[in-house]
Amino acid sequence: MERTFSIIKPDAVADGNIGNILQMITDSGLRIVATKLIHLSKEQAETFYAVHKERPFFNDLVEYMISGPVLVSALEGDNAITCYRDLMGATNPVEAAEGTIRKKYGRSLDANACHGSDATETACVEIPLFFTDAELVGK
Ligand code: CMP
Repeated sequence: MERTFSIIKPDAVADGNIGNILQMITDSGLRIVATKLIHLSKEQAETFYAVHKERPFFNDLVEYMISGPVLVSALEGDNAITCYRDLMGATNPVEAAEGTIRKKYGRSLDANACHGSDATETACVEIPLFFTDAELVGK
């Protein structure tokens, strides 16, 4: 059993795709163990993407992530990290495979509909940034 962290990004929330994406997530066999709609502060977005601080796209990414509400979730299942990354598709929606979340709902590299943890260690850092242990309703 593994957990991963998901963000449904501002473009997908604004486009009314929260329900569609959560349906794809649960259809894939992943379980939602916590979820909430929030509007990230600049500090929260900078902390969350701190690993990309030196990348040229960092400032645009932060500005984009605070441009509207996002849905943060903790997901659980067998191989949850890989399972969710496969479901999301390639980072750039134009390179994402048919049937993936980013292919269906992504608009651009930043506005790519969703984020998912890239490793167990990352999920262990990302989930507690938004949820307490008591808020995680697992099996
Ligand atoms: P995400 O999974 O949220 O992790 C970091 C984000 O940076 C990524 O999705 C993209 O939305 C965004 N990004 C913007 N430019 C790039 C780039 N050149 N390479 C990777 N990620 C990028």
